[in-house]
Amino acid sequence: MNIRKETKEHWDAVYAEKSWEQVSWHQKSPEPSLTWIHSLALAKDAHILDMGCGESYLIDALLQKGYTHISAIDIAQEALEKAKRRQASPAVKYLCADAARLPNLAPVDFWHDRAVFHFLTNEKDQQAYLSSIKQNLRPHGYVLLATFAPDGPLKCSGLEICQYSTQGLQSFLGSEFALLKEQRIDHTTPTGSVQKFNCALFQFLPK
Ligand SMILES: C[S@@+](CC[C@H](N)C(=O)[O-])C[C@H]1O[C@@H](n2cnc3c(N)ncnc32)[C@H](O)[C@@H]1O
Repeated sequence: MNIRKETKEHWDAVYAEKSWEQVSWHQKSPEPSLTWIHSLALAKDAHILDMGCGESYLIDALLQKGYTHISAIDIAQEALEKAKRRQASPAVKYLCADAARLPNLAPVDFWHDRAVFHFLTNEKDQQAYLSSIKQNLRPHGYVLLATFAPDGPLKCSGLEICQYSTQGLQSFLGSEFALLKEQRIDHTTPTGSVQKFNCALFQFLPK
């Protein structure tokens, strides 16, 4: 599979060197994602994809709620191995892949991306990601994008990111995506600093 080598090496090294509790994006409770997913009353066998899942507790929480069709994708095999050891369940399929070079996936009902899309800093990669979302998301499916906000940090894990307001996310996704919810978030990192995030939920309504 086509994966950008440098990007993969960066993230594999992060997960090899740091524990889950040490990374700046660590969240004890995967909110508002979990509440928003729950509010949609999806079928328990709906296909939920966590793009750039890392070692997030979102998948553990989804398993606890009885979801049976979950995909966990990350560019870092190291992260997937750690997550697998904790979560091990036939309900979760793990795939090491690059968000900017995704293969075809089984049709997705809910596409979750917390702090992953914002690492795609050039237009070609951003457009490739958008094509993958449109190709793989079912009509009437959902996409949640959580990124650093315009008054948030400019870098994460030593890498440049792109900041987004909800309006910026809407203009990236285009008119086939209807905004359902948005929330500004003050994320407190394990070292106590506060990072401004913007989180928005859209529904895919292709014409
Ligand atoms: C800031 S962390 C967020 C992890 C997780 N989503 C969370 O909220 O805890 C970014 C994650 O995206 C992954 N990642 C970065 N670039 C990626 C890419 N191009 N394709 C897939 N995963 C990527 C990293 O390995 C890392 O796990």
